[in-house]
Amino acid sequence: MAGTKTIVFLLFASFIAIASAGNFYKDFDITWGDGRGKIINNGQLLTLSLDKTSGSGFQSKNEYLFGKIDMQLKLVRGNSAGTVTAYYLSSQGASHDEIDFEFLGNVSGQPYTLHTNVFSQGKGGREQQFRLWFDPTTDFHTYSILWNPQRIIFSVDGTPIREFKNSEYMGIPFPKNQPMRIYSSLWNADDWATQGGRVKTDWSKAPFTASYRNFNANACVWSKGKSSCKSSSVASKINPWFTQEMDSTSQARMKWVQKNYMIYNYCTDRQRFPQGLPKECRVN
Ligand SMILES: *[C@@H]1O[C@H](CO)[C@@H](O)[C@H](O)[C@H]1NC(C)=O
Repeated sequence: MAGTKTIVFLLFASFIAIASAGNFYKDFDITWGDGRGKIINNGQLLTLSLDKTSGSGFQSKNEYLFGKIDMQLKLVRGNSAGTVTAYYLSSQGASHDEIDFEFLGNVSGQPYTLHTNVFSQGKGGREQQFRLWFDPTTDFHTYSILWNPQRIIFSVDGTPIREFKNSEYMGIPFPKNQPMRIYSSLWNADDWATQGGRVKTDWSKAPFTASYRNFNANACVWSKGKSSCKSSSVASKINPWFTQEMDSTSQARMKWVQKNYMIYNYCTDRQRFPQGLPKECRVN
């Protein structure tokens, strides 16, 4: 009988997405930067830094196929012009999928730009950019990606700012077959990042530092060709995010952000797409 119980338990456990609350040693590897990336405070805090010689970066140990992933970031403060802090999910290979947050620094007192993009099967070009309604350098704020088979929702402190819907029925690929890792890097991009490349990095202010804490992934971990969430119908009962949609309150909040804080939307850029806007813009 004990045997049966164990089997039932194992079956049940295998449907549950792995909820993983923050220890950077356990979940991430610093991948480049020659000591400029550091995990400190017993794994509770991660910092990346950038100086004239190099930036730095890290990646998740796990690959994920769907999830609700939260991270708190505190961005480079003061004169951050020329610096880019990228925080994103990406699969590998030429026709990769990618879900991006990128924070473009600015001179002191001028606002950061939050740049977002979605790639599916190697095709991106779906930029939307925002201002933030707070100073992202004085405190930690939560940046989240909800990724399920029907939609991708980008949120900031729980407020949705962008939704990318699955519109495969229109022939547009949606990221749903390629597992992705979480990546972040702090690097110099003063040839384009700030005010179109006109403002350069002030290296006298280096090293520049960005900090990370409270990583939380409620996600399906991909390992050896298998997902930790085997059956989507069962997964959705245990993991509401698996079928989560935007309710009317979320829709209204996203509208508020897009009306007041969106500064670029590829879906309204008719100059860029003289032959007609991308098809998915009809529903996104
Ligand atoms: C920096 O500040 C300028 C002036 O407010 C603004 O036009 C620009 O969009 C800001 N962000 C970046 C990344 O250049």
